[in-house]
Amino acid sequence: MDIYCVMGNPIEHSKSPWIHARFAELTGQTLHYGKRLVPINGFATEVNSFFSQGGRGCNITVPFKFEAATLANQCSQRAALATASNILTLQDGKLLADNTDGTGLVNDIQGNAGVELKGRHVLLLGAGGAAAGALGPLLLASPASITVGNRTVHKASALVARHEALAAQQGTELRAQGLQSLTTSFDVLINATASSLGGGAVPVPACTLKPGALAYDMMYGSAAQGFLRWAQEHGAQARDGLGMLVEQAAEAFMIWRGVRPPVRQVLTELRMLLP
Ligand code: ATR
Repeated sequence: MDIYCVMGNPIEHSKSPWIHARFAELTGQTLHYGKRLVPINGFATEVNSFFSQGGRGCNITVPFKFEAATLANQCSQRAALATASNILTLQDGKLLADNTDGTGLVNDIQGNAGVELKGRHVLLLGAGGAAAGALGPLLLASPASITVGNRTVHKASALVARHEALAAQQGTELRAQGLQSLTTSFDVLINATASSLGGGAVPVPACTLKPGALAYDMMYGSAAQGFLRWAQEHGAQARDGLGMLVEQAAEAFMIWRGVRPPVRQVLTELRMLLP
C-alpha cells in the first residue's frame, strides 16, 4: 500500500489524515495516510527515515515548513518564492518540495466563497510562513493590488521584494506597509497573522474593509471565532480557513494520485464534524 503522512509538532490536532482517508474513499484510491510527531531538532532524520521505509509523500506543518524547503533536492516555483513547503514527494530518488497552501487559499476564495480576485484590492496581513505561502498564488490570480501589512514592516518589505518580478508580470501593484498606517479600504482582507492564536484582537481597524468585503482568516475552529465575529459586525463576508485546509490537501492529493477529489463534499462533512 502507498504510504503518506503529515509531520509536525504538535500534530495530534491535525485533520489531514481524516481528509486524505476520505479523499481516498471517495475516489477509490488505496493508500494509508498517518501522522508523525517530529522532535523539534529531528526533522531531517524523520524525513529520511519515512522515505527510506517506502513513504511516497508527506505533508509538512508547523514549525517545519521552512526547513522542508531547504531539505529538498528541488523546489517548485511556488515553494521557492514562499521559501517554505507543505508537501515533500520522492520522485526518481529525489526529494521534491512544493507548496499547495496558497493555491488552496485561492481555490477556496474563488471556487467555494465565489469571490473573484482579478482586478480586486487585497490586503494580506502577516509576513510569516502562512503569508509567504499565499502571496505567489494570490498574485497569479491577477488582483489590481496586494498590500502586505505586517507589524514588523521590514519582514513585509522582504516578502514583497521577493515577489516583485511576479507582480510586474501579473500587472499587480504590490506594496508593503506597517499595520498602523493602514487607512484605505480593501475588497478582500486575508488574516495570515498568528494574532488570533493568542486570543488577540484583529490587528487592523475596520475601516480597512470596504462594504461587503471578504474577510478571511486562515485559522479555523475556535481560533478564528473572534475574527469572524469582528468581520460580521462590520458588514463583511466572513470566512475561516477550513476550506483552505481541504483545498490545499486536494491539491496535494492531485499531485500524488492524479485525481481531483470532491472538495465541497469533504468540506461540508468536515464542518459538521467540528465542534
Ligand atoms: P506562520 O508560519 O503561522 O505565519 P510566523 O512565521 O511565526 O507564523 O508568523 C507569524 C505572523 O503573525 C507574523 O507576520 C507576525 O508579525 P511579526 O512579523 O511582526 O512578528 C504576526 N503576528 C503574530 N502575533 C501578532 C499580533 N498579536 N498582532 C499582529 N501580528 C501578529
